[in-house]
Amino acid sequence: MTRRKKIYEGKAKILYEGPEPGTLIQYFKDDTTAFNGQKRAALEGKGVLNNRISEYVMTRLNTIGVQNHFIKRLNLREQLIKEVEIIPLQVICRNIAAGSLSQRFGLPEGQALPRSIIEFCLKDDKLGDPMVAEEHITAFNWASPQEIDDIMATTLRVNDFLCGLFSGVGITLVDFKLEFGRVWENDYARIILADEISPDSCRLWDTATNEKLDRDRFRRDLGNVIESYTEVARRLGIMSEMPTVIQGGKGA
Ligand code: C5P
Repeated sequence: MTRRKKIYEGKAKILYEGPEPGTLIQYFKDDTTAFNGQKRAALEGKGVLNNRISEYVMTRLNTIGVQNHFIKRLNLREQLIKEVEIIPLQVICRNIAAGSLSQRFGLPEGQALPRSIIEFCLKDDKLGDPMVAEEHITAFNWASPQEIDDIMATTLRVNDFLCGLFSGVGITLVDFKLEFGRVWENDYARIILADEISPDSCRLWDTATNEKLDRDRFRRDLGNVIESYTEVARRLGIMSEMPTVIQGGKGA
């Protein structure tokens, strides 16, 4: 038997070589981290929930023309994705003040922002993912001015669509993080959405109660992390495909 080749292991996911050139397998771990990996835990069933939620969101985005790396879900924890040349930026989009934005500017959490705000952080764990300006991005060649324009336009489209998708099920999209990558066609690079969209990468609040249904439950020791992720999946109407252990709210 041959062992499959691991390409990369991150805090919450592993990438393996895919069955065909230009593909990878993305494996969702149960590991959860906060504060750049300083706080860690394994939450049983989290990987299964994020795999399914991300599949659902990426598939819906594809139907409105937001091209992304998702090809198909392979099993409970794995999905087949397109291999991309990852752009080393975290693209954060915010609708409501929370988290690091609230801390930086002394804004109360929950205050609506005058308009959606996009921020860029360099993907670098050792440096703590520092925030960067467009000047840094173009000067250090992390992305071209045209690519930054494409990324911002796509991020705003994703935001509009996801705000509607979640508000339809009683959830407020406070903020989220996206990652993008290049796919090369001959000498031309196209930018597509990569990584995942899940309660690990979004702040999702119950619209009626403002209860947090995302990774802040882990970051802030609020408890019921898996139950909250399960609630997001339940409201999106995708729980019927989950194993019964998760449906019972106890993890997989
Ligand atoms: O911590 P901060 O307020 O900057 O996070 C903004 C958004 O980006 C949150 O939805 C958070 O979950 C997400 N994020 C992430 N991964 C990081 C940093 C932030 O998914 N490394």
